[in-house]
Amino acid sequence: MAMIWKFKYGHPFETEAVAEHIKETEEAPPLGTVSLQNGFRWRYELAKDDIVYGLGEAVRGINKRGHRYISHASDDPHHMESTQSLYGAHNFIVIAGEQNFGLFVDHPAKVTFDIGYTCSDILEISCQEADLYLYVIEGETPYEVVKQFRKIIGRSYIPPKFAFGFGQSRWGYRTKEDFRRVADGYRANHIPIDMLYMDIDYMQDFKDFTINGEEFGDFPAFVKEMKERNIRLIPIIDAGVKVEKGYPVYEEGVKNGYFCKREDGSDFVAAVWPGYTHFPDVINPEARRWFGDYYRTLTEQGIEGFWNDMNEPSIFYTPEGLEKFTELMRKFVDGKTDEVPPFYIKYVIMNLANNPKDYAAFYHQAGGQKIRHDKIHNLFGYNMTRAAGEAFERIAPEKRFLMFSRSSYIGMHRYGGIWTGDNKSWWSHILLNLKMMPSLNMCGFLYTGADLGGFGADTTRDLLLRWLALGVFTPLMRNHAALGTREQECYQFEGTEDFRHIIEVRYRLLPYLYSEYMKAALSDDLYFKPLAFEYPGDEMAAQVEDQLMLGSEIMIAPVYTQNARGRYVYLPEEMMFVKFMPDGTIYRKELAAGHHYVEIELNEVPLFIRAGKCIPVADAAESVERIDMGTLQLLGYKDAEYLLYEDDGVHKDYENPANRRLLTNR
Ligand code: NOJ
Repeated sequence: MAMIWKFKYGHPFETEAVAEHIKETEEAPPLGTVSLQNGFRWRYELAKDDIVYGLGEAVRGINKRGHRYISHASDDPHHMESTQSLYGAHNFIVIAGEQNFGLFVDHPAKVTFDIGYTCSDILEISCQEADLYLYVIEGETPYEVVKQFRKIIGRSYIPPKFAFGFGQSRWGYRTKEDFRRVADGYRANHIPIDMLYMDIDYMQDFKDFTINGEEFGDFPAFVKEMKERNIRLIPIIDAGVKVEKGYPVYEEGVKNGYFCKREDGSDFVAAVWPGYTHFPDVINPEARRWFGDYYRTLTEQGIEGFWNDMNEPSIFYTPEGLEKFTELMRKFVDGKTDEVPPFYIKYVIMNLANNPKDYAAFYHQAGGQKIRHDKIHNLFGYNMTRAAGEAFERIAPEKRFLMFSRSSYIGMHRYGGIWTGDNKSWWSHILLNLKMMPSLNMCGFLYTGADLGGFGADTTRDLLLRWLALGVFTPLMRNHAALGTREQECYQFEGTEDFRHIIEVRYRLLPYLYSEYMKAALSDDLYFKPLAFEYPGDEMAAQVEDQLMLGSEIMIAPVYTQNARGRYVYLPEEMMFVKFMPDGTIYRKELAAGHHYVEIELNEVPLFIRAGKCIPVADAAESVERIDMGTLQLLGYKDAEYLLYEDDGVHKDYENPANRRLLTNR
C-alpha cells in the first residue's frame, strides 16, 4: 500500500510544487532521523545494495549514490562530473532496496544531498534553515513511489504535436536571411524540420518582447512565410529586462513596482546580455501576470512557442560587484600587490558572475511580505515559466503552446518542459543526456532534451550523428550551438544523407513517441524509465546505466563512444533488435535474454522491441503535419497489440475516447 506523509518544519515558503492537498502529520517521519540543530538534517543509513534515484537535472548516474549534489539553480556551461549544481533544482529522490520510499524536500533555497559522499552508507539531506515541507512516500516498488509522487505534483506539461518534430537552433542567426538559409538548407536537402529557434539576436538590443525591426521588418509576414513551409519560429525570452528609458516593459515595471528590489527599495540591477537589467518579480502574482501578458505581443504576431532563458537567474555582474572589482584593480595597477595579489584579482573576476552576495542583495514580494532572493532562489525559473503558462491560458485557453525553460523547480513541470542548458560537444555529455532523462521524468519533466551536438566547443560529424540517434527518442529534439562554434546544422557536413536518414527515423517513429508521451503525461507515468523499473528483481538490470526503457514497448541503447562500431547491451528478456538502415529498410533480429554485442554504424538507428510487443511506424515525412497516419505499419512481434493515442496535436481534448485505438500486428 502506498502511503504519503507530509511534515512541516518552521515556516516554509509555499512553493506550490505539490498540487494536491495533503494533510500534515505531527509525528516524526517513519524513515530516517531528523535533526533541527543548525538548520535541517535528515539522515538515513543505506543498505549495501540500495539504489538512490531522482534529483532530476544533475550530473552522474541514474543511481545517484557516491556523490554530493546541491540544489541551487546555476548557470554552468562547463559542467563536469564534479559539478554539484546545474540549471534546475529538483529535490525528489527515491531509495530503492530494503525499503522503497521517496522523499521530496520542498525547500526553495540550497539543499544538499550527500548520497554516500561523506560516508558511503549514509544518505544525508540538509539545508541551512529548517523551514520546509518534507514528503515521505512509501510504495511497494520504486516505480510505485514515483507514480505516487507524480500524482501529487500534478499533470506534466503537454506541448503541441509540432514540438515533437526536429528543431534547429544557433546563437547567432541575426537576420531573416540567416533563417531562410537554414530553412532552405534543410528543405533543399530533404532533412525533416519543424522548428527554427530564435536566439537573442532577433531582439532589438536584447530587449524582451521586442523585434529588431531592421532585420525582421513585418515580422508577422515572416512568421507566416515560415509556417507556410511548415516551420515554426520559436523565440527566446530572457529573465532580465533591459534598463532603458522609454522601453515600455522597463517603464511599466518600474512604475508598478514589478521588479525585484534592493534592501533600500530601489530596483535591483544585474548585467546580462542587454547590459543592465531588472528582474521581473515573478514570485509576486501581480507582477507575474503582467510579465506573462507580454508574451501576447509575440503570440499576436503568429508565434506559438518560446524558450525561457537565463532564469536561474543568471547574473554576469552587478554594479556593486563591478565597483569592488574596479577598486581592487586600481590598487593593483598602483602596485599595491601586497594588498591585492594577482591571484586575488583572478578570483574576483571569476566570482563576478552569479555571486552569492548578489543573490542575497535583492528581494521579492510574496503575500505582502518581502522575501530575500537567496531564500527562494530556485523558484525563479519556475515562476517565469509559470508566468508564460498562466498567460497562455488567458490568451488561448483551448490551445497548446510550446514552452520550455532553462531553470526549473518541481511544479514548473505543469507549465513547460526544460532543455538541459548549456552542454559541450563532448562524448561524455551524450551519456549524461541519456542518464538524466529518467531522473527528470521522475520529477515530472517529460518534455525534455539536450542541445544535440553540444552547445559549447566544436562538434564533429560522428558526435552529432550519434547524439541525434539518441535525440530521435527525446521528446525535445533540438540541435543548438553557441556563437563562435563550428556550424552545426545537419547539412553543413559531408554525407548529408546520413543526417537525413536519422532525422527521418524520428518522424517515422513519431506516432509511437507522441502516443507514449501522451499516455505517460495523461496517467502521471514515465516516458523514460530505468530498466529496473520494468524488471524488478533482475540484479543485472538494476545496474544498467546506459540503456533506457521508453514507453511500454521499447528499450533504447545508443552508442556514445567515439569510433565505436557497436556496443554491448543487456537484455533482461528476449527482445527484437531493430535497426533503421540508411536505405530505408528495417533490420530485425530476435535476441535471447542476456548480454550481446550489437553492431551499430554511424548511420543506423537502433532500438529493441520487448517480447510480445509491437510499435507503429510511419513513412518518412518532412514535417509533423506531413506524417501520414493512414499508412502506419506495425513493427515487432506477430499478433501483438498496440494502443495508439492520437489527437489533433493542437487542442486539449485529451480524454476523448476517439483518441485511442487498438492496433494489432497481423
Ligand atoms: C544561454 C543559453 O543557455 C543558450 O542556449 C543561448 O544560446 C545563450 N544563452 C544566448 O542566448
